[in-house]
Amino acid sequence: MNFKSALNKEIFSVVSQAASELHLESYVIGGYVRDFLLKRDFKKDIDIVAVGSGIELAQKVSELLPNKPKVQVFKNYGTAMLRFNDTEIEFVGARKESYQFESRNPTVENGTLEDDQNRRDFTINALALSLNTETYGDLLDPFNGLEDLDNQVIKTPLDPDVTFSDDPLRMLRAIRFASQLGFEIDAKAIESITRNQQRIEIISGERIVEEIHKILLTQKPSSGFLLLHETGLLARILPELTNLNQVEEIEGQTHKNNFYHTLEVVDNIAQNTEDLWLRWAALLHDIGKAPTKRFNKKQGWTFHGHEFLGGKMVKKIFERLHMPLNHKMKFVQKMVMMSSRPIVLSQDLVTDSAVRRLVFDAGEDVDDLMTLCAADITTKNPAKFRKYHSNFEIVRQKIIEVEQRDQIRNFQPPITGEEIMALFNLKPSREIGILKEAIKEAILEGEIPNEHVAAYEFMLKKAKTIGLILPEAKLEILNDKPTEKENHSPD
Ligand code: CTP
Repeated sequence: MNFKSALNKEIFSVVSQAASELHLESYVIGGYVRDFLLKRDFKKDIDIVAVGSGIELAQKVSELLPNKPKVQVFKNYGTAMLRFNDTEIEFVGARKESYQFESRNPTVENGTLEDDQNRRDFTINALALSLNTETYGDLLDPFNGLEDLDNQVIKTPLDPDVTFSDDPLRMLRAIRFASQLGFEIDAKAIESITRNQQRIEIISGERIVEEIHKILLTQKPSSGFLLLHETGLLARILPELTNLNQVEEIEGQTHKNNFYHTLEVVDNIAQNTEDLWLRWAALLHDIGKAPTKRFNKKQGWTFHGHEFLGGKMVKKIFERLHMPLNHKMKFVQKMVMMSSRPIVLSQDLVTDSAVRRLVFDAGEDVDDLMTLCAADITTKNPAKFRKYHSNFEIVRQKIIEVEQRDQIRNFQPPITGEEIMALFNLKPSREIGILKEAIKEAILEGEIPNEHVAAYEFMLKKAKTIGLILPEAKLEILNDKPTEKENHSPD
């Protein structure tokens, strides 16, 4: 079969010319070919395999390209990369032995194209298109990858035990491709993953996380997580999640299975946001429940403080998986820690001050928090489901109203500590904190609007109650003049 139409980019004819000048065979292989045949959105990078030196081929290609792009050589892997028109082109020499994805030792043993295809992860990723003049566009498919594409199945070219032992990350990749493409994994491969699950422990956190990200970003992440669970991989990567997979009964009282609930929440949120970190928050929002679960006769099952503990566990997970401990981590932590707040509001009568407090604590992230909490409603009782969602709408509406009035989202105290110190001739002291806190509380409670004059008057009253007296001179000025902020007001 010939697929010349996949090769009408300039880069392919240049690689073809470079290879023939070097008397090498060259092929496009892997994701580019797979995605072309699947008519899937074209991915950015292109993998070229040379029967000979991939590095030399890359250098020749660069010479022939108009802008002579820089060639990046990865000696340890025997590969090279260059960028052309926003596309990364990877070059590798065909190998007989397995790929050393994390090895620092140079990999050698040159091989034929078929040797190389043998050592790749899946039959659908081993499909190659010829770039050689005589056979340009011919499909080379020794393992019936095309048939597997048609049948929508992920299969390894060799015995799965061999393919997975070459690079255990492939166990995760199998599950990731299955969930991205909506494919099944061949039964033998599933058995092999289950049998070899402990080998995932030699893989770096960074590589594991890349696959988890991709699973989380699929349309229905639960399908990937269920496979991870069934094969035993999830318990090794994220035991905090599988620990939620339990339902206990005491005195006839049970609690919900928080593992399956979590997967439902992740699927729900996937319909409303593409944000990877918000999806992470959904995945981890209940992890504090396993360690905080208690039973008492009065209340039944409780999970007191699970949000706070969950937030702390988020950091440990990020550390363990070598994920950056940056603002993204803080965001996930914050979402987990606040994850029950709007739900509580949606069950009760919503007061303005409760909404103001929610907006104050969540700040800029209040909309994301609402998205998370709406996804958290998985009750199977239709009446409750309707009630919670309609209360959520009320909360959303109130957030808008409260925001218009009091600008709580990026709360700036209407009176600064400096102002208070200047007024009372005070140095930094406890009293300043008390006054500032009282002003904030009064605003959140709706006693005063978030405005300078109102806050000023409130602060003077409050000051008296804690024994702060205005110096005489200031009192006189105050009685004659409007406050400083009023002087600066635009009108
Ligand atoms: N490959 C492999 N084993 C791995 C990683 C990659 O055999 N552990 C091979 C596969 O043939 C794969 C190619 O290298 O198709 C390129 O790998 P990569 O860019 O990671 O994946 P793609 O298949 O291109 O798909 P995507 O970019 O969507 O992840």
